[in-house]
Amino acid sequence: MAKEYVVAILGATGAVGHRMVAQLAASSIPVKEVKLLASARSAGQQMEFRGQTLTVEETTPDSFNGVDLVLSSAGGSTSKKYLPEAVKRGAICVDNTSAYRMDPEVPLVVPEVNADQLKHHHGIVANPNCSTIQMVVALEPIRKAFGLKQIIVSTYQAASGAGQMALNEFYQQAKDHLAGKPMEANILPTKGDKKHYPLAFNLLPQIDVFEDDGYTHEEWKMIHETKKIMKNDMDDADLKVTATCVRVPVPIGHGESVYFQVEDESATVADLRKVLETAPGVVVEDDPAHQVYPQPLKAEGTGDTYVGRLRPDAENKGAFNMWVVADNLLKGAALNAVQNAEELIRQGLL
Ligand code: A2P
Repeated sequence: MAKEYVVAILGATGAVGHRMVAQLAASSIPVKEVKLLASARSAGQQMEFRGQTLTVEETTPDSFNGVDLVLSSAGGSTSKKYLPEAVKRGAICVDNTSAYRMDPEVPLVVPEVNADQLKHHHGIVANPNCSTIQMVVALEPIRKAFGLKQIIVSTYQAASGAGQMALNEFYQQAKDHLAGKPMEANILPTKGDKKHYPLAFNLLPQIDVFEDDGYTHEEWKMIHETKKIMKNDMDDADLKVTATCVRVPVPIGHGESVYFQVEDESATVADLRKVLETAPGVVVEDDPAHQVYPQPLKAEGTGDTYVGRLRPDAENKGAFNMWVVADNLLKGAALNAVQNAEELIRQGLL
């Protein structure tokens, strides 16, 4: 008989955690038992899993006794505190936070791109940043076919990427502004920083905190995670990557304007489109004559990565522009985590 797994979802009450519960329920993973873990604040809350009503528990190290698989999305410090406890107790963790992504012992995996790295895990597998995931899903098939020299990306990232509280704050700002009241900002652009600004009717060119070089940490993550996933080296010098990350007043679904240069300068848009049309997890939505292109509202609730507006840079051979959209809470987080777990099982690693 196939093995059945005891699964803990750490951060089950959050924007991503909720979706991890739903994606696990919809997955092929044989589940014996699910433990829903969060902070003391939400202990006692009830949630559904495959027709059962489950009660959320406060997380303690002993919550992981007997657990085979942990899916976690409760913030970096919570992962640092509890994942070693889970690993000590024999569990394998797929972590959606940035806590372990750059640890050389931890594979950083998007199954469509580098599932072969999973076998190197020591108990923890990291899920990349939401904006990185959708970009590499779209670019890896191109890299494989034509080589890739450079990526210049500008992101248009949804409010939900900053968590459920940030999303609630954004909705409240929109309501207040339309009612003629002042907008209050206590979370965005980023929880840990000194100043806060409204996102409603605005654009915030800051996601996460600033580094000394003037880039934000989100931009740093996109650069180094992309290199680690595609080239297996976070500081790879052959693939040049630069990023500008912007929070936009959209609830769910990140957009990205991706400019890239391939090695094979004979590649045409038709060649790229052909590759993308058969790429796993990619849906090409690109028909300017009929105004067909990816949009967050259409991507919301789906697991695919949508690519459109594919066009050559007329002044640079081998360079192209495209527009990439995905549901940041699903392919950008919960779905990718569950796909990693499914892949661990498929490879006999769990
Ligand atoms: P809680 O709802 O009890 O605060 P989001 O990313 O949407 O902000 O969600 C964060 C998730 O992480 C929530 O489920 C939240 O639980 C959980 N969380 C935050 N801090 C802790 C903690 N110290 N221990 C366990 N879970 C935590």
